[in-house]
Amino acid sequence: MAEIVIVPGEAEAGDLVADAIVDLIHRKPDAVLGLATGSTPLPIYRALAQRIRDESVDVRGVRGFALDEYVGLPAGHPESYRAVIRREVVEPLGLTPELVRVPNGDPAGIEHAGADYEAAIVAAGGVDLQILGIGRTGHIGFNEPGSSLASLTRVKTLTEATRLDNARFFDSPDDVPMHCITQGIGTILRARHLVLLAFGEAKADAIAAAVEGAVSAAQPGSAIQLHPHVTVLVDEAAASKFENLAYYRHAWANKPAWQGI
Ligand code: GLP
Repeated sequence: MAEIVIVPGEAEAGDLVADAIVDLIHRKPDAVLGLATGSTPLPIYRALAQRIRDESVDVRGVRGFALDEYVGLPAGHPESYRAVIRREVVEPLGLTPELVRVPNGDPAGIEHAGADYEAAIVAAGGVDLQILGIGRTGHIGFNEPGSSLASLTRVKTLTEATRLDNARFFDSPDDVPMHCITQGIGTILRARHLVLLAFGEAKADAIAAAVEGAVSAAQPGSAIQLHPHVTVLVDEAAASKFENLAYYRHAWANKPAWQGI
């Protein structure tokens, strides 16, 4: 079972994950991070940037792979995930830009962009720690409901619900691309540690289905149940639909001192 951690707020979640990432980098200076976009992971990046500064953590060798990208945005578009990852992760953390990759959403060559990305992840030795958010539709990365649980990086069509959710980053909902390129669920499951975060009541149904529902392509987040090392961090509002809430609190309160997340 995934370890479910109910935190008072986003900042505490960010601190816990930043601790785990700093430990990882100390053990493995060329660690491979799986990077997510969206609002959810921002507390991690904030906490991590602070730790890196305060403790002079050497991150020059740290590598990264983003989960997903829109297809067809003009090069340099500020809402392309390439630009977002640079702005929100690479620059504040001081990562080496050449070591951080994002799937290539350029329509020219898109038919082999997925296979190229998979090959790059394999060549890097796989992802050590994958950060994940979850969409209202239950998607992880951009794997919308119905995505194969064995899928690898490929082009997907976004649901209208996801396009509407992401319209806040664009001038109008029509400007949100129709297609994306995303790591598959099979790709995500190959990472050695999955860290899934959800905050706020709007995520309560999706995260309950992911953690406690049936494993199903209809709920892409439920694929985490197939992975041996998953940490789920939620605030009280996102935790409000869990049936086993009391047990999750009990297990966390009695966690062996030697065990990290
Ligand atoms: C986008 C991203 C996902 C992210 C989801 C939730 O669709 N592709 O990786 O998890 O949105 O976003 P937020 O964290 O902003 O709620």
